[in-house]
Amino acid sequence: MGYARRHGELCAEGVPLQRIATAVGTPVYVYSWRSVHEQYRRIEHALAGVDHRICYAVKANSNLAILARLAELGAGFDIVSGGELERVLRAGGDPKRVVFSGVGKSTADIDFGIKCGIDAFNVESASELARLEARAGLLGCNARVSVRVNPDVDANTHPYIATGLKESKFGVPPEQALELYCRASASPDLTVAGIDCHIGSQIVDVEPFEAALTALLQLVDALDGEDIALDHVDIGGGFGVTYGNEPALDLDGLGEVIRRTLADRTLQLRVEPGRSLVADAGILLTRVEYLKPAPAPGYRNIAVVDAAMNDLIRPALYQAWHAVEPVVEDGGVPKPWDIVGPICETGDFLALDRELALNEGDLLAIRGAGAYGFAQSSNYNTRPRAAEVLVTDEAFAVVRRRETISDLLGLEMFD
Ligand code: LLP
Repeated sequence: MGYARRHGELCAEGVPLQRIATAVGTPVYVYSWRSVHEQYRRIEHALAGVDHRICYAVKANSNLAILARLAELGAGFDIVSGGELERVLRAGGDPKRVVFSGVGKSTADIDFGIKCGIDAFNVESASELARLEARAGLLGCNARVSVRVNPDVDANTHPYIATGLKESKFGVPPEQALELYCRASASPDLTVAGIDCHIGSQIVDVEPFEAALTALLQLVDALDGEDIALDHVDIGGGFGVTYGNEPALDLDGLGEVIRRTLADRTLQLRVEPGRSLVADAGILLTRVEYLKPAPAPGYRNIAVVDAAMNDLIRPALYQAWHAVEPVVEDGGVPKPWDIVGPICETGDFLALDRELALNEGDLLAIRGAGAYGFAQSSNYNTRPRAAEVLVTDEAFAVVRRRETISDLLGLEMFD
């Protein structure tokens, strides 16, 4: 979408990636705004006819410039920390469109959310509800509550990112949700706002969403019987994208199912997509430092690049597969290469066994890196984190400068 070849050279919209590498250095994350915008429109289109709100899951890519542009489109936000709330506010996001997820909200974060008047706390336990009630009482502000229900639905995804099963730490079972709603609706300091779930990430089938929404609506009916009315139902995020050969989630098919399942209910639908808005929009641009061709049979061809697992941890952590493309194709003879980083760990690889024609100094684009790429990066091995660049049409801007060693060491002191 945002990336195509022009005269053999890979470009982000109208900007050759070589130009960005020369100006900003490598490794660098590059994002195509057009791609994010198009995905946003796709989700909007899929949900046409349904009263809905897209609450972008900030954790996927929390760069302020991207948040600001999404806010301009009218997006709401799904946050999981006070830090993410601060980002949304600085980016001009409306706190009234913010939902707050997460099993471990701190008292400070709860207070911050209450004072900002966020739209809903997605409450994940009885203890959290009690704390929220106490803080709202103390601060003299009402807090809006949505209970995160664990519908025990299998999303068929990587075990680390499946969240809707019984054994997961997230949400509460439906029976307990009823108790929490009764408690919340009886409290003068709480207002019952909605019901919520998030069953996992990188889900490519519509059925788990249908099952989850159906389970939530059964609860809505049960609550109706108790005279507890809700204004929204939030099915979370998790819309799968294509990294390799897997199909992306059929967004229009999901929309159909939602329209059918919600029928003539007056509830607003909320979705919390992260990955599906930003994954395809981003690449990690890296340069080949050294080639270590296999010296004898049984060895592997190793290409050491200047990006590492600290920049993109998805391959090491989830066995994730990201496409790798040379920015300029030189027409050489391809052979299978392992693309690895400079970090002292065998798990430090970005891609294994890729048929590529490589030379030292070549630029490579690691595709699908816009979600959970920079956001999960670290300073392991005292590596400053990469710069981030946002491209719009023919222009690009550095939206986060490369960290320096002084940035890193400046926080430390001798005792
Ligand atoms: N809502 C909640 C409550 C979540 O926990 C998440 C993601 C989302 C929405 C957004 O899910 P998405 O639409 O992005 O799938 N680091 C992993 C993914 C972790 C997802 C965590 N929660 C990865 O790189 O695959």
